[in-house]
Amino acid sequence: MNLTGKKALILGLANKHSIAYGIAKSLVDSGVELILSYASASLAKRVLPIADELGVQDCIQCDLSKDYEIQNLFRLVSSKWKNLDYLVHSVAFAPSSELNIPFHHTSRHGFLTAMDVSVYTFIAAMKEAEHLMQPGGSAITISYYGAQKVVPNYGVMGVAKAALEGSVRYLAHSMGEHGVRINAISAGPLRTLSSSAIGGVSQMQRRIEKSAPLGRNIEPDDVAKTALYLLSDLASGVTGETLFVDAGMNIMAY
Ligand SMILES: NC(=O)c1ccc[n+]([C@@H]2O[C@H](COP(=O)([O-])OP(=O)(O)OC[C@H]3O[C@@H](n4cnc5c(N)ncnc54)[C@H](O)[C@@H]3O)[C@@H](O)[C@H]2O)c1
Repeated sequence: MNLTGKKALILGLANKHSIAYGIAKSLVDSGVELILSYASASLAKRVLPIADELGVQDCIQCDLSKDYEIQNLFRLVSSKWKNLDYLVHSVAFAPSSELNIPFHHTSRHGFLTAMDVSVYTFIAAMKEAEHLMQPGGSAITISYYGAQKVVPNYGVMGVAKAALEGSVRYLAHSMGEHGVRINAISAGPLRTLSSSAIGGVSQMQRRIEKSAPLGRNIEPDDVAKTALYLLSDLASGVTGETLFVDAGMNIMAY
């Protein structure tokens, strides 16, 4: 797909295993100009070489749990670009002490942190992006099936993903006024920094190989290709949706 001339901001690239990396790479391969943002100084040693490899000049540190850092990020983006075509939100966090525990043991702090970083950051980013995005603009976030059905060990992240998918619908409505589309991809399990905190991912992947209609787990590229579709004009009539990229696993009862 030729998307030359389009501009995208990618939030949530930590390393080469990040879902955001696959999406960034496929956007660059399609001619899109990128700005990358990463959470903290400790990630710079991994993210800056990736930016070099992708030919990305601007790589901005931003802790999305801080409003002033989000405002600073968008100030820098708007000093470089007059408009933004695409925004990719591939961000989530819950303290590891909140995962792999009985759900009713979730702490107030863990609940608020998971909601803040995994959900509110998308809303906050869209608020700052509003004045940069023109009709035809598009934003995506990444969800998981634990939003809709109980996935053992996923706990508070499942509730955060449910809120994220709800926020996608409300953002689609409010940003629809500006002609901007908002969607989520619900990705099957992939081995990344985030998923390594959740117990039982390997067993889940083995079960998917046996039961999913496609008889395999997904690859990062499966998500990247769907991201390209949802961001681009190919999905011009699609907004507020959560689209499964999970080799069909979600349609199975067993
Ligand atoms: N890996 C999977 O199996 C899977 C499946 C479905 C959905 N997802 C979702 O995909 C998204 C990306 O996760 P991933 O699997 O690529 O793992 P990842 O760890 O590579 O990405 C998560 C990103 O969130 C960033 N982040 C966390 N707190 C932040 C903060 N305060 N400010 C800015 N950034 C912050 C991290 O730095 C990291 O870049 C997440 O929303 C995750 O829940 C992952």
